[in-house]
Amino acid sequence: MLVVGHRGAPSRAPENTLASFEAALAMGVDAIELDVHLSRDGHLVVIHDQNLARTTNGRGLVHEHSLAELKALDAGSWYGPQFAGERIPSFEEVLVRIGPRVPLQVEIKGATEGVTEATLAALRAHGLLDSVMMTSFHLDRLPLVRSLAPAVCIGALVWGRSRTPEKRPMSAQACITATQAACADVMLLWHECIDASMIEAAQAAKLPVGAAGGTATEADMRRLLALDVVRMTTNFPDVCRAVVPAARSEASQERR
Ligand code: G3P
Ligand code: CA
Repeated sequence: MLVVGHRGAPSRAPENTLASFEAALAMGVDAIELDVHLSRDGHLVVIHDQNLARTTNGRGLVHEHSLAELKALDAGSWYGPQFAGERIPSFEEVLVRIGPRVPLQVEIKGATEGVTEATLAALRAHGLLDSVMMTSFHLDRLPLVRSLAPAVCIGALVWGRSRTPEKRPMSAQACITATQAACADVMLLWHECIDASMIEAAQAAKLPVGAAGGTATEADMRRLLALDVVRMTTNFPDVCRAVVPAARSEASQERR
């Protein structure tokens, strides 16, 4: 099982910042998950929410701001005073600073036209298409990823239950069908949706399963490791690293 830092190491530093990515690297992650949006002037930036209010001192939507406006925001003080002045990273900065050091798991966010194409072009320019995993909850965007980068690894954020308040479970077959329709290599599910019957159905369909979300506890991680889950996106990379010795990660590298 690969240990994937969810937005870096958000249990240690403000999510989706260089500080968070450095903290995740220091914990020995096998990959770093991050979220990309387009700015008003067409630059990719790394931030989770479409709205700036939760993780910065800005207001409004990411795509309503230029890169310069976004870079002027404080993306660290909300988390703690020691992170005051931390910035929203541009995707370019992350590709330069973090990309050569660890594989990335890039989630395409937002509804902005062109975000998929821009993300792949940037990864290609940095020679990172071979190591990246591309993901999205917008499953209808993933066939475009496949057509623009036929060999890239794709993880479909199928989730395994509805993301509306009633959290209606999806059948294993529905998850598999959605993953295949998205042209994906790996099925990414909310960790509680992964059990032995889900894994058995996925294996029959030759689909590796990854755990998504981030909040899984150490006990959850041990359960998922025993189920042969290939990657664990976690808010607690240090805990997960202790559960998954590096040698166990290596065995998952090929399957991702
Ligand atoms: O594990 C993937 C996860 O990142 C999806 O959820 O909320 O971080 O976009 P979110
Ligand atoms: Ca994400």
